[in-house]
Amino acid sequence: MMRIAILGFGSVGRGIARAILAKNLDITVTGLADSKSGIIDAGGIDLAAALARKENGGACGNAGVSPADVVAKADYDVLVEVTPTNVEDGEPALGHIRAALRRRKHVVTSNKGPIALAYPELRALAEESGVFLKYEATVCGAIPLIHAMQEGLAGNTISRLYGVFNGTCNYILTRMAAEGLTYDQALAEARELGYAEADPTYDVEGIDAAIKLVILANTVLDMRTVLDDVERTGISLLTPDALQLAEDQDCTIRLIGEIVPEAGVLRVSPRIIEKDHPLVVEGTLNAVTVGTDLAGDLTFIGKGAGSTETASAVIGDLLYIQSRHVQGS
Ligand code: HSE
Repeated sequence: MMRIAILGFGSVGRGIARAILAKNLDITVTGLADSKSGIIDAGGIDLAAALARKENGGACGNAGVSPADVVAKADYDVLVEVTPTNVEDGEPALGHIRAALRRRKHVVTSNKGPIALAYPELRALAEESGVFLKYEATVCGAIPLIHAMQEGLAGNTISRLYGVFNGTCNYILTRMAAEGLTYDQALAEARELGYAEADPTYDVEGIDAAIKLVILANTVLDMRTVLDDVERTGISLLTPDALQLAEDQDCTIRLIGEIVPEAGVLRVSPRIIEKDHPLVVEGTLNAVTVGTDLAGDLTFIGKGAGSTETASAVIGDLLYIQSRHVQGS
């Protein structure tokens, strides 16, 4: 049995809790906190009750228990850090992840800030402590892209990564083109459905896609990049007229991220693409083509945002750790 502590009980945290319950996973949650409250219970928190409280507008736990208390005092094997991304300094998540690694706890996170800003330091800390640091959910939601690149494609040289990295922008562009929704209407829908970041500027200005490129560059492509290295244009100024103009040429517009490691290129921008191109996916789907020397080109398509889909990536990381370390230890 694996014991976990969860920080963050929004769309992703609740998706994880629902998956643990629905699949009857051999996982006990001994600590849980959101920004307002927390619970520590070595015997196992009643997740169904916590979900019900939160969904009825209540708190997930007690006001006197903070996320820092959960990290420092709860009895767990893995810290699951799924709070909203902050790209300025990665806090408070970065401090919580450091503290858990120092306690020799494994860490699984969907939080892009700490991984984009401090991966080398966190990785060194995890190695020193002999624990895993896993972050599949930070890039492309349900697509196991990091796992595929680190494991399945090990030995390949990656010449290019190219594709749709932000589900919210893809959803907005799809809804504007197909249903004639305005940009504001489509964005409001994406927020309501839990696809957008807590600060949706991250999505529509291309910051979220740029962070994902930095994470891939630094963690699987052996590059050393920061957010400012990414040439970036978002979709906030796109008009229905621009989409119509593309439509008239049997094309559409997608927010495309691209890395060319050898040239040191990282960029995010809206591009006009022919409608039958494999990267023209609908709704919250992401699609990424990875160009390699041995395996040729591979295109991965899957849901890039959403509660259950992001939970899938977190659960995958947890079960990876469980199979390699926790069981029988
Ligand atoms: N807001 C992000 C997106 C969530 O829309 O892609 C997944 O990182």
